[in-house]
Amino acid sequence: MSKVVRKAVVPAAGLGTRFLPATKATPKEMLPVVDKPAIQYVVEEAVAAGLEDVLFITGRSKRPLEDHFDRNFELEEALERKGDEERLGLVTEPTELARIHYVRQGDPLGLGHAVLVAENHVGNEPFAVLLGDDLIDPRDPILPHMMQIREEHGGSVICLMEVPAESISLYGCAAVEVTSENDVVRVTDLVEKPEAAQAPSSYAVIGRYLLDPAVFEVLRKTAPGRGGEIQLTDALRVLATMPATEGGGVRGVIFGGRRYDTGDRLSYLQANIMLAAERDDLGPDLRAWLRDYVAKLS
Ligand code: UTP
Repeated sequence: MSKVVRKAVVPAAGLGTRFLPATKATPKEMLPVVDKPAIQYVVEEAVAAGLEDVLFITGRSKRPLEDHFDRNFELEEALERKGDEERLGLVTEPTELARIHYVRQGDPLGLGHAVLVAENHVGNEPFAVLLGDDLIDPRDPILPHMMQIREEHGGSVICLMEVPAESISLYGCAAVEVTSENDVVRVTDLVEKPEAAQAPSSYAVIGRYLLDPAVFEVLRKTAPGRGGEIQLTDALRVLATMPATEGGGVRGVIFGGRRYDTGDRLSYLQANIMLAAERDDLGPDLRAWLRDYVAKLS
């Protein structure tokens, strides 16, 4: 079996209830961060890591998503007529990023279920899962390091971030053992959204995974868990205890960079401000305004 990860799966079929009413008719992954839909950053991250085959798991209101990664001849012609090469480039760029495929999840039965519907496309290969509402700052890439760990050890690799005790109940949480590598741990168990007192560590699971194809067989047997959803966390718990010869073993890479949950309103606002404030075009004006605004607040 090939050890090389070539395909990326991007689940984007969730209901996005934390962001209503914006997400009533628009997938939350299509909400703009500064001037680009959140999901375009995610696809760019996959492509930068060499994953040019991208499968979106979509649900209701998938049209805006498909349209964004497709040609728009009317718009292209209008910009061509005006000779606006720069904006023309912005319109065509998403269509040329990657080989994009779509599959419908049907009912949003949970992240584990979303991953399972990718099985036909992925086949018997390791693959990456990038959550469409989890934005890793492009300056802090983590996938290449995860791929290196997967190549060295096989099995599955997840991405962990240290969070304050009061926030751990928002995430999946990993029980870990240290390894000889500073920022790599062996995952021994996982708990979905534990109360702080029950959390086995302060390591939260964030939305980047490299999964062994053994996960599909496990997911098929995974009963609905927390919230009545088929949880990827529950399948990872099983993989963590399975022998390496059967595709088991889960390692965690500790991420210390910048990351935003664009499905959460506060984190979404922070992502917009931070990314815009550091840009050459918008940054100087935004920073000047922010300083003024904050001074008036206090
Ligand atoms: P979330 O846990 O953020 O759930 O999903 P959600 O339903 O989208 O959002 P809220 O909590 O109601 O606001 C994490 C990721 O998994 C995808 C989502 O699109 C998101 O990228 N997902 C979740 C699916 O693709 N299918 C599902 O059944 C559930």
